[in-house]
This record gives sequence, C-alpha cells and structure tokens, in this order.
Amino acid sequence: MRLGDCTLACLGAGNMGAALLRGLVRSGAVRAARLRAADVKPAALDALRRELKVRVFEDNRAAVADADVVVLAVKPQGLDRVLGHLRGHLRPDALVVSIAAGFPTALIARLLGGKPRVVRAMPNIAAAVRMAATAISAGAHARRADLRLARELFETCGLVTEVEEGLMDAVTGLSGTGPMYVFIIIEALSDAGVRMGLARHQASELATQTVLGAAQMVQQTGQHPIFLKDLVTSPGGTAINALYSMEKTGMRAVLMDAVEAATRRSRELGRPFQSEPA
Ligand SMILES: NC(=O)c1ccc[n+]([C@@H]2O[C@H](COP(=O)([O-])OP(=O)(O)OC[C@H]3O[C@@H](n4cnc5c(N)ncnc54)[C@H](OP(=O)(O)O)[C@@H]3O)[C@@H](O)[C@H]2O)c1
Repeated sequence: MRLGDCTLACLGAGNMGAALLRGLVRSGAVRAARLRAADVKPAALDALRRELKVRVFEDNRAAVADADVVVLAVKPQGLDRVLGHLRGHLRPDALVVSIAAGFPTALIARLLGGKPRVVRAMPNIAAAVRMAATAISAGAHARRADLRLARELFETCGLVTEVEEGLMDAVTGLSGTGPMYVFIIIEALSDAGVRMGLARHQASELATQTVLGAAQMVQQTGQHPIFLKDLVTSPGGTAINALYSMEKTGMRAVLMDAVEAATRRSRELGRPFQSEPA
C-alpha cells in the first residue's frame, strides 16, 4: 500500500505527533481527510483540527477504527496502558509505527496481542521544520513493504535511515537528542560573538546561518568534514589558531561523552520495558 492511500491515526498530538502530522499535510503525502489525531487534551486537538483540517478524537479506539497505519506518539511511560486499551481494536492488517523511546517492538506486539506488524522509529524534534533525522527498524512481524511505508512516512519530515533495533539507543543518543547539542553550540557561538563586541541579534543570526551553511556544505558536497576543514585552515591563519584552542579543550571528547551519556540514559529508561517478557 502507498502512503497516500493510507488512513493514518496518530495517537498523541504533542510535539512529535503534531510535527509528523504537519509534515504529512504540508508535503501533500496524505490528504488531511485521511489523517486522524488522538490526544487527551481537547484544546490541543481543537488547534490541530483548525490548523490542519485533520479529524480529531479524544478516544484512541475511535481514532484507530479505520486506520491502516497507527502511529504511537505518546510518552513511553503511558504506552503500556494505551496498548492494553487498543488490544483487539486495531484493524487486523494495520501497521503500527512507534516513536516511543526505549519501548521494544516485541513488547508492543505482546501488549497488542497476535502478530502485529510493528516498525520502531526514532525521529528528532527537527521534524517540526521537516528537517528531522530518523532511524527506523522492523519488528519481528514487519515486512519489507512496511519499512518502505515507514520510510515514506518519515521522509515527509526529513532524512530516514534503517538500523537494527538494538542500535536504537545509540540513535537516541546521537540524533534523537542531537538538536540539543546544536542548540547549545549555536548559543555558545552567539555568546562568543557578543563577547567579541557584536550585537546579540547579529551574533545569533550569524551563528545560526554558519551552522546551517556548514551542515549543508557537508551534505551537498558529500565531502568528508576534515577535507572541508582543510579548506578554511590557511597556514598561520585564524581557523588553525581557533582549532588549536578547541583541541586543547578536548571538544571532540566532550561531544563523544555527551552522546555516550545520552545513549546510556536511553538504555536505562528502556530497561523497565526490556525486562518484560516478550
Ligand atoms: N520530543 C522529542 O524530541 C522526541 C524525539 C524522538 C522521539 N520522541 C518520542 O515521541 C513520543 C512523544 O514525545 P513528545 O515530545 O511529542 O511528547 P508530548 O509533547 O508530551 O506529546 C505526547 C502527547 O500525548 C498525550 N497523551 C497522554 N496520554 C495519552 C493517551 N492515553 N492517549 C492519547 N494521547 C495521550 C499527551 O498529553 P499530556 O501532556 O496531557 O500527557 C501529549 O499531548 C515519546 O514517546 C518520545 O519518546 C520524542
């Protein structure tokens, strides 16, 4: 089945659920009439209905009644209750796509009962501007076609890659948490500009565009970042002096430690779910 022919229900219309729905509507991938959003917050649903013209529900069972694809976008802590409530109420051929951090596909299948086709995904908050980096992995009963459909779904919000489910904590540490690292880098660069005498608004504008431009250069040229670094480090120049200062502070190790800390935390958060018998 193609994404455009699917009826899709998104359970949880918070930051990520709403961002995914926006991506689907704005990319034109799925008509608004085929989209359903469910949440426990009537005001949030009302705002989404007015903005995107999707159908909204306060009852998850009603939202999934005719859904070919069910996206689980509630917090992992409440997901077991949501799945228990849905048990026996999904269409038998529905594809379940979960973005809940740390929640294994095997447990989703066990809580839903039967042999549901489940795809797990880890997007990031940049889905809000359709620039997310998303990793997807297949549960035991998912087919190639299900991964293709999930890829199509998340490509409406950015880039998609496929990983083994066991690597989802590493993905959470790198790209799931990743926008935070870059927000801090932008803010620190902006502070540095202010410290050197620039006005705040100009420092922020220049820092943001610099990060965006550097990222686009890596992506569009396909060149290794080290090659691009060499382009700006002229002998005895400003960049090589800045680089020397960064290396002395252990900047790379700082970032590697941060990703490791986030990966470890993701594992810890997922542990209560992983100890459940599958
Ligand atoms: N935010 C990120 O950067 C990010 C990145 C990757 C993946 N994720 C994953 O995405 C999922 C959603 O995260 P989020 O940041 O979008 O959280 P969020 O903003 O809190 O959105 C979740 C929404 O679901 C609602 N909800 C609670 N119980 C519900 C129920 N039984 N049925 C339907 N809706 C219910 C919540 O309402 P209340 O607020 O009233 O509880 C809230 O509006 C999580 O599983 C998270 O692990 C998030």
